[in-house]
Amino acid sequence: MNAVSITDTVVTHLVERGLISDDTDVTISALTGGVSNEVLAVTGPGVDLVVKRALGQLRTSELWEADTARLLTEGRALRAARAIHPKSAPAVVDLTPQFLVIERAPIQWKTWKEALLDGVIDVGVAARLGEFLATLQRDSASGAIPTTDFSSRLAFEQLRVDPFHRQIAERHPDLRPVIDQTIDVMASSKSCLVHGDYTPKNIMVGESPDDVWVIDWEVAHVGDPTFDPAWIIGHLLLKSVHRPEMARAYCNAAATFVDSHSGVDDAPNLDHDQLIRQLGCLLLARVDGRSPVEYLSRPAQHVVRQLGREVLQTPPDTILDIWKALHD
Ligand SMILES: Nc1ncnc2c1ncn2[C@@H]1O[C@H](COP(=O)(O)OP(=O)(O)O)[C@@H](O)[C@H]1O
Ligand SMILES: [Mg+2]
Repeated sequence: MNAVSITDTVVTHLVERGLISDDTDVTISALTGGVSNEVLAVTGPGVDLVVKRALGQLRTSELWEADTARLLTEGRALRAARAIHPKSAPAVVDLTPQFLVIERAPIQWKTWKEALLDGVIDVGVAARLGEFLATLQRDSASGAIPTTDFSSRLAFEQLRVDPFHRQIAERHPDLRPVIDQTIDVMASSKSCLVHGDYTPKNIMVGESPDDVWVIDWEVAHVGDPTFDPAWIIGHLLLKSVHRPEMARAYCNAAATFVDSHSGVDDAPNLDHDQLIRQLGCLLLARVDGRSPVEYLSRPAQHVVRQLGREVLQTPPDTILDIWKALHD
C-alpha cells in the first residue's frame, strides 16, 4: 500500500472511531522503526497520536510473514504495563484488529538507542528498566497481572525464534546443540510475561528520570524470564563493540540493570546458564540472523560473531566477564 492510501485509511479510521472529526486538519508522518509495522504520527489541533498497523508481510528482502493479530497483543500488553507502572508506557487511546492508537511521546523524546549511540549512557534509565522488568516478571508470575491474553507464542516464534535462533543454528551448525538447548528451555519456560523485544530501540526516554517508556510489545507472551534481560545486556555489548572507547560506561549500565532487577522485592531468580546462552544467541543473531543491526562495521561484526560463539562454547561465570573478554 502506498503512502497516500495509508494516510487516507488512517484518517477515515480515526474519524470513524470518533478520535478526530471530518474537518480536523491533521498532519500524518511516518515514524522510522522496524520492518514489521506501519507506524505513523498524527498531529493537529488537540491531536497528538501514534497509529500503528501490523504488516502481514515484513519489509525485508527475504520473504518473512507474521500473524497480524499481534497488534491486539501489543495493545493489551501496553495496558498491562501501565497497570504495573502508569508511566512505563504510552496510554492506549483505541484498539481494533486493524489499528492501535496510542499517546505520542513529547517531540524531544528519543529512543534510548539513539542516546546510547550518541554516547549518552544514562545509568538511571538502566536502573528503571531493570526495576520495571523485575516487577513485570514478578507480578505476571504471581497472577497479580492476568496473562491469559498472552498465551500464544505464534508471533514470537515468527518474529524472534525462527529468524534469530533457528537461523543462527543453520549458519553455525557446530553450535546447534547449545542453540537447540536454548530454544528447548525457552519453550518449556512459561513463568512470566516476556516483552520479547526489550531493546534500546524500543525504549523512549525524555529529560526527566521518570520519562522512560517501553514500547513495541507485539511479541509479548508468557515465557522465559531470561529472554528480556539477555536482550538489554546483549545490546549494551553490541554498542561496546561498536564504540570500544565507551565500553566501560555501557558495562556500568548493564551492571546497573542487573542490580536493579535483582534488587526488586521477590524478583524472580534468573537461570544463569540460560541467560548466558540467550546472550550468546542474541549476539550471533544480530550479525547472522535475519535482521542484523545496521550500525556495526565488518570488523565489528566479526568481533561480535567471535564473542557470541565464545559465550556459547565456553560460558563465562559472570556477565561482566564477557566485557573482560572483549579486551583480551
Ligand atoms: N508513542 C510513541 N511516541 C513517539 N514515537 C513513537 C511512539 N511509538 C513509536 N514511536 C516511534 O516509532 C518507532 C517505531 O515504533 P515501534 O512501536 O517500535 O514499531 P516497529 O519497531 O515495530 O516499527 C519507534 O522506534 C519510535 O521512534
Ligand atoms: Mg520497535
